[in-house]
Amino acid sequence: MSHLLPLSRVAKLVGQPRHTLQEMIRSGSLATFDGMVELDELLRAFPEVKWDDDAEFRRVTEIKDKAFAKRVRERALPDKDVLVARLNEMGDEYAAAKALLLHYGSVMTWLDEKIDELEENASVETYHALHTVRAFLLRNLAETPPDAVQAQAVILQERMLKLMSAHVTIQPSGHEFFVDGNDTLLEAALRNGVSLNYGCSNGNCGDCKARLLSGEVKKVHAYDYVLKQAEKDAGVILLCAHAPVNDVVIEANVAGARDIPVQQLAARVKSVEVFNPQIAALHILAPRSQRLRFLGGQSIQLGFNGVSGRYAIASCPCEDRHIEVQVPRRPGDPFAEVLFGQLSANDTIDVEGPYGEFVLDEDSPRPVIFLAFGAGFAPIKSLIQHAMSLEIAESMDLHWLADEAGHYQDNLCRTWTDALDNFNYVPHPPTGDLDALLQRIVTDYPDLHRFDVYAVGTAAQLEQAHAHFVREGLHEARWFAEVLGS
Ligand code: FES
Repeated sequence: MSHLLPLSRVAKLVGQPRHTLQEMIRSGSLATFDGMVELDELLRAFPEVKWDDDAEFRRVTEIKDKAFAKRVRERALPDKDVLVARLNEMGDEYAAAKALLLHYGSVMTWLDEKIDELEENASVETYHALHTVRAFLLRNLAETPPDAVQAQAVILQERMLKLMSAHVTIQPSGHEFFVDGNDTLLEAALRNGVSLNYGCSNGNCGDCKARLLSGEVKKVHAYDYVLKQAEKDAGVILLCAHAPVNDVVIEANVAGARDIPVQQLAARVKSVEVFNPQIAALHILAPRSQRLRFLGGQSIQLGFNGVSGRYAIASCPCEDRHIEVQVPRRPGDPFAEVLFGQLSANDTIDVEGPYGEFVLDEDSPRPVIFLAFGAGFAPIKSLIQHAMSLEIAESMDLHWLADEAGHYQDNLCRTWTDALDNFNYVPHPPTGDLDALLQRIVTDYPDLHRFDVYAVGTAAQLEQAHAHFVREGLHEARWFAEVLGS
């Protein structure tokens, strides 16, 4: 029987995003069988991959981790019970494979003896035919097939991946992600930008209840929330307390912008990053016991010593407790003045939110154009990182139309371009003729009807841009816009 690998694991093995593989399947350059890829097909389609050397794979993963601003994780081992269960499962597979080989060995011995028997009384023709069959069998059994070394290396890497991580599919949304190291199902979902329902993240509230549809999980935290027997019988688990042993399918709700309640918490200032006199970023850390639930593109209200303001979140929900907001220094904004002159590490900030519905359409696999006017880069940055962690868009083009504050995170955008083959960054310097610039941008997209566009700027800038994009073929419903500072 051939060795079949699920597409998501193939993506990990070859260090490519899923949508690249899906594109290969669509174009016919990668064949699948029931959504799985045969080992021979994998070796044929990726002849350049060095299967016995995962240094390049690790390098690409690290660049991507940095580019997505994810916490670069130490290679933590899974929880010991999970590890034991995975090793047991692997032991079972090994024992089954070995038993099968022993069986094939005895079939071969029987065949050899049978040929001996038949040769004794055979005619000359039959004798030659039997002799040829035996020679063919012995020669092929003695030879190592040309792809065997590579196949062995792929299987070895796949086994290591299976040992260190498990694949999760969420139903009915279809979201997929891996649980690495000693993460729980909830931690891994959040890290991958999948906004599952939860509350306390420490086993008190029961908000993260979900149903295990297939696969096996282990309880890795001794939280004491009590599930009713009927719930347990129906496969209900707490996502914050369980980790998968093998690939699992879970039934759980993925929250949209309207499902996430406004939360209040006190966060600690990690740092203030002044890009230039016009704009700064505030990096804050939510308490371990009360992370902020939000989606990329939303905003929060910040308060300190009686002054407050609402700003766009510039980080990804996948960044765990770390939240970044970007604050333009505008006249009449007392919080901005406090940020530029007074706030420092370890101060406590009041946080309230999230607000707004400018979020990704996670069901859309279409290519995306991001249009950021000036400080509108902040929510666009959050959306881009969220889209990267979800790996949903076919391609992403960022057009940053700078104001006097310039492209203050130019290097970050260039790092994204280096790390991802489906990301393209086009910086535009300040212009006195916005109409001409917008026309040049849309002219580069003769197939605008295929795209989604996410834009953030002033009401006037958005109105101008909207007119150009829709006139050149963008579907009205695929225009998503947010007025800066709203
Ligand atoms: S998040 Fe509260 S019990 Fe899991």
